[in-house]
Amino acid sequence: MATEEMDWDARYEQKDTPWDKGAPAPAIAKLVDEAVFPEGGKIFVPGCGTGHDVAELAALGYQTLGLDISQLAISQAEKRYKVPGARYVLGDLFDPEWMSEASFDVVWEHTCYCAIHPSRRRDYVGAVHRLLRPGGLLVGLFFTDTQMPEGEGPPYETSRDEVVNMFASSFTLDSERIPPACYPNRVGREWLMMWRRK
Ligand SMILES: C[S@@+](CC[C@H](N)C(=O)[O-])C[C@H]1O[C@@H](n2cnc3c(N)ncnc32)[C@H](O)[C@@H]1O
Repeated sequence: MATEEMDWDARYEQKDTPWDKGAPAPAIAKLVDEAVFPEGGKIFVPGCGTGHDVAELAALGYQTLGLDISQLAISQAEKRYKVPGARYVLGDLFDPEWMSEASFDVVWEHTCYCAIHPSRRRDYVGAVHRLLRPGGLLVGLFFTDTQMPEGEGPPYETSRDEVVNMFASSFTLDSERIPPACYPNRVGREWLMMWRRK
């Protein structure tokens, strides 16, 4: 099913949300310890779901804005996490209307790229590019082993090389590696890439 056809609210309504581990991505705290996110930076989280990562980043000192297309996900995030510095906005990543406040220092990508239909991945790259200030950083935890059949999703399969192909014309690859920590069932299935906006 294509993302544009996916009823994300229905997924949250039916609690059909296997991606939601009830806790932030374990890599975040480690990356903060490594000072990957610039101190005092403004962070944007596309497809933030029920807000675990947004709340974690805000609790660690970053002004963080999460965006999600699902009203239910956003209201659950608002209810669960009243953390100073965390904001949740209902909206579509591909809708330029709400982007006037763009110019983030960092975009934190975590299971949004794989949720977007492959036919819209160039739009994803364009949106993230517009949201970041020049020189800003996309810190991407890419789900490179979804174990989904080709063309089926979400999550839609990707690979390190496919991500390079998508991002290389408008971003520079600063570094890439195995993530410093993962949820138990994602070990060996994610690839961490730091892309700097040209
Ligand atoms: C696989 S979930 C990941 C949620 C969260 N990052 C997590 O790991 O718990 C993908 C999320 O992206 C949201 N999403 C899908 N398409 C979107 C779009 N065009 N704009 C904003 N959010 C979108 C969905 O509602 C869903 O919450």
